[in-house]
Amino acid sequence: MKDHLIIFDTTLRDGEQSPGASMTKEEKVRIAKQLEKMRVDVIEAGFPAASEGDFDSVQAVAKVIKDSTVCGLARAVEHDIVKAGLAIAPANSGRIHTFIATSPIHMEMKLRMTPDQVVERAVWAVKRARDFTDNVEFSPEDAGRSELDFLCRVIEAAIDAGATTINIPDTVGYNVPEQFGYLFKQLLERIPNADKAVFSAHCHNDLGLAVANSLAAVTHGARQVECTINGLGERAGNTALEELVMAVRTRQDYFAVDTRIHTPEILTASRLVSNITGFSVQPNKAIVGANAFAHESGIHQDGVLKHRETYEIMRAEDVGWSTNKMVLGKHSGRNAFKTRLQELGIEFETEQQLNDAFVRFKELADRKHEIYDEDLQALVTDANIERVENESIRLVALKVAAEMGEQPSATVTLSLEGQELTASAVGSGVVDATFKAIEQIVNSQTSLELYSVSNVTNGTDSLGETSVRLEKGGRIVNGQGSDTDIVTASAKAYINALNKFSDAAIKAHPQRQETV
Ligand code: KIV
Ligand code: ZN
Repeated sequence: MKDHLIIFDTTLRDGEQSPGASMTKEEKVRIAKQLEKMRVDVIEAGFPAASEGDFDSVQAVAKVIKDSTVCGLARAVEHDIVKAGLAIAPANSGRIHTFIATSPIHMEMKLRMTPDQVVERAVWAVKRARDFTDNVEFSPEDAGRSELDFLCRVIEAAIDAGATTINIPDTVGYNVPEQFGYLFKQLLERIPNADKAVFSAHCHNDLGLAVANSLAAVTHGARQVECTINGLGERAGNTALEELVMAVRTRQDYFAVDTRIHTPEILTASRLVSNITGFSVQPNKAIVGANAFAHESGIHQDGVLKHRETYEIMRAEDVGWSTNKMVLGKHSGRNAFKTRLQELGIEFETEQQLNDAFVRFKELADRKHEIYDEDLQALVTDANIERVENESIRLVALKVAAEMGEQPSATVTLSLEGQELTASAVGSGVVDATFKAIEQIVNSQTSLELYSVSNVTNGTDSLGETSVRLEKGGRIVNGQGSDTDIVTASAKAYINALNKFSDAAIKAHPQRQETV
């Protein structure tokens, strides 16, 4: 009988701490729903004390998620714990994750607290969090560089105070697998009340070892792993959920644990996070990269055709790669459309939303004859964006001209708070000209930090998904758009980002304060 390995996803918290990866409340809810569908056990929805927007996002996730525990992060201070407690209150199952640094360098240079004061504060924080929920996680921040005796002391005290999960963060990604695994072994052997809590690993990828370190921790007794979709996270990122889960699932002969993750949802989650944050996935990325299951070399192809297991250790379908079969076309009716969406787990709240999506589907089918599952997913994401975001700027018309040897130009008509305005501009390409024309109308004074395009399916008639990142006065937003025409998709993404500026706030960072 295998032990259950708890999957704690922190895409919405540590993932969002990645510079430029900020997400709106609606985007967080969309990702959280996908995580729930994937059967993630715990969703860390954010740091509620960071800003009113973060509080609202955690609360919104807590309201809609039913099957996963919703967690809020809090430093070991009254304000943070109260905010986290209130934000998770609507959840079916809620958790507070409180932390304080325990490494000599953090205690001395950042907190300016003595070890005794840190133990006292940790105990206080866990007890205070227990006033809101009996599901309390405690992290000794920078555990990977903390002294073992002190770590044992603070963890024992935190468990006595009521912590039910003890998370061991390798905050700066300094550890190597044997060492990190051995740390778990020692903690579990030496802490007298260790059996009263679940031990968890939280690794950063600065040396490219986050997944390996997490797996070593699992081998030595960790029963929760903290991870993010696509390994998003501070600096080089966190443990990639898809890699960790598939390593455990594929090597059931080796690991004494398994997760409850519904792996066919992995690719959808990866695409959703990549599209929302604008962080694209490298083609050779394990599990979710475009080449992860592609067999280029003739020898490999021959082997795979003769017997799949010669070169494949996992089945592409098991992580959500479809066989790219055409699923719908121009003549498909509303019922076929609805049925396929239901099979993909996509539901609409109202009949009107389904009708709107069907109109979009027909428009798309006129331009693109074969519609794949990926197209349907992109189409619905695009519809969601327009429905959910507060749109004060709308794209009404777009005309571009490009001719070899001539300067590309664009003419854009926008509806701005209901008033239609048109502008034309030239640029180094049609996308550049389009963005300049938009700027002539809105004069947003933002700077473009990122622009990326990816195709949803193969072929030149594919839908293009675009991401745009804009910055203004320290605030960063990401916009998305999709269309078979990439200039239109780009304009949609740019406008989507502009529409988000009203909601974007400068947030406090949970780990960068001098004292608590
Ligand atoms: O990396 C880290 O130490 C963290 C803590 C807040 C758990 O993210
Ligand atoms: Zn972290």
